[in-house]
Amino acid sequence: MTYEFIIVEPAFQDKVALIRLNRPKELNALNLQLMLELKDALKSLDQLENVSCIIITGNEQAFAAGADIKQMESKNAIDLLHIDQFETWDQIRKTKKPLIAAVNGFALGGGCELAMTCDMILAGESAKFGQPEIKLGIMPGAGGTQRLTKALGKAKAMELVLTGRFIGAHEACERGLINQVVPDELCLDEAVKLAKEIAQMSPVALQLAKESVLKAFESGLQEGLYFERKNFYLCFASDDQKEGMKAFVEKRKPEFKGK
Ligand code: HXC
Repeated sequence: MTYEFIIVEPAFQDKVALIRLNRPKELNALNLQLMLELKDALKSLDQLENVSCIIITGNEQAFAAGADIKQMESKNAIDLLHIDQFETWDQIRKTKKPLIAAVNGFALGGGCELAMTCDMILAGESAKFGQPEIKLGIMPGAGGTQRLTKALGKAKAMELVLTGRFIGAHEACERGLINQVVPDELCLDEAVKLAKEIAQMSPVALQLAKESVLKAFESGLQEGLYFERKNFYLCFASDDQKEGMKAFVEKRKPEFKGK
């Protein structure tokens, strides 16, 4: 898997794959090609049997400082309509395997939205999150107003979206936007630890559970509960369920096969 703006390591560690955003001079600004590459890589990794969890990271300076402003500057509304970049974002959101964002430095605008599109976020203590689009005369477009509000609540989300202020990793963690703050230099290591723990589980159960938690964002409680129940039943169609419960009774570690 060779790309221009991302580096992909499908067999990074055990069943954990790594995607590194790689436009360091532009603070990993998300141009259209980078996003297409990311979509393509995630689709491929989703199909690999020996990958159970995927980490997306950047570098020390930036996870990503937003969509590429230089690429967007001259576009008008109809250009954007034709480019239809959000189809790419929708596909990324549909990744079946768990996605962990390991964030150092800036996660701004589309960069913050990309981190929030992942299922969990770990950040180094110097990381900064924000939606500064308002300072460019625009607003978030890849889920920022929705996901930030669900994570932080109305008041804080409104403050960030309307002022473009950043929040640091500790505040982001206290407010529930991210899972964990770690020393900067340990960010990727800690993400790998979390990914490996997840990767030991049944791939079938992981997929169904992820889908069900995401449903909570997209539906009312009744619909979400109904969806959860169906997926819960579906787990019992897998060999992994039999193996998981048998292993518990036999007091041994389960061997999950994703079947
Ligand atoms: C294009 C970017 C960029 C971006 C940084 N760069 N962010 N290029 N798009 N989003 C480039 C700079 O132009 C510069 O290149 C180089 O990266 C280093 O950036 P500096 O500004 O010199 O670094 P610094 O002074 O450390 O400031 C860091 C920063 C600042 C605070 C992160 O770069 C910044 O404010 N960036 C923009 C953040 C932003 O507004 N994001 C939202 C974008 S809109 P050159 O060659 O000039 O030296 C968005 C909408 C999403 O994301 C919609 C859905 C897809």
